[in-house]
Order: sequence, then structure tokens, then C-alpha cells
Amino acid sequence: GAPVKADIGKLEPGQMVVVEWRGKPVYVVRRTEEQLAGLKELDQYLKDPESTSSDQPAYVGTITRSIRPEFLVLVGLCTHLGCAPKHHPEVGVPDLGGDAWLGGFFCPCHGSRFDLAGRVYQGSPASTNLIVPPYSYEGDNVLVIG
Ligand code: FES
Repeated sequence: GAPVKADIGKLEPGQMVVVEWRGKPVYVVRRTEEQLAGLKELDQYLKDPESTSSDQPAYVGTITRSIRPEFLVLVGLCTHLGCAPKHHPEVGVPDLGGDAWLGGFFCPCHGSRFDLAGRVYQGSPASTNLIVPPYSYEGDNVLVIG
């Protein structure tokens, strides 16, 4: 299929937009500085903190899982059985009784939790991180997925 372009110039820090690519939802999240800093604290709570068993292009980093740190690009399908995880950017919401929930994605189907880089938490039925699709940029504001 053809690549899909999305204008991300108006995305505010903390916001997410959904772009359709090859019939799949792609989540594009603009992370705040604080959210990015939090990612470094989470390794011990995650199943695959460096994404060695997870699907992402070689050109994205292991912690932010992105080309530009602030913009996260993920296929919005749970790696357990394919439901759409919900974006919860707030610390402690939903209240799942854990200490390490600094915001991320929560799958309502069977309760998998992912951080704000799409990395899966221990205790989740999913065992790999949310997929990062191939993507690039055209200038500052245009994201090209595919
Ligand atoms: Fe997401 Fe099962 S489909 S936890």
C-alpha cells in the first residue's frame, strides 16, 4: 500500500491523533519532556525494555522507540489479541494498584498495560511491545507512515 501522510504540526504536547494506515489505526502521540524522562525509570517493570523481542524499525531508539523523541508512532493494536489499547497519559489513571504506572496505554480486553513508548508491563497477557511501523518525516510537520 501507499504511504500515508499526516500533518502533526498542531499536535500539542500530551495529545494523540489516530491515523489509518493499511486498514490499521496508527497512534501518534506527542510526549511531554516529563513523560520522556519517566521512560528511563521503568526497565525493571517491563517485559521487553529494549524491544529485543518486539517489532520496530532499526532506526528508532530503544528507550523512546522513535525518531524524534517527542513523537511516538505505534500501531494501535494490542499484541495480545488485537484490541485497541486506550491512551491514558495521566500518572495513576486508570488506578491499577501498581506503583509504576506513569501513563501509557491500557488494553480493556484483558488488561495489558504499556508505557508511553508502547513497552509492555510485566503482569500483562501481551508479551511483546506495541509495534512501531516504518515511518519518516518530510520537513518538520509531515509524518509519512509506510
Ligand atoms: Fe489486549 Fe488481550 S487483546 S490484553
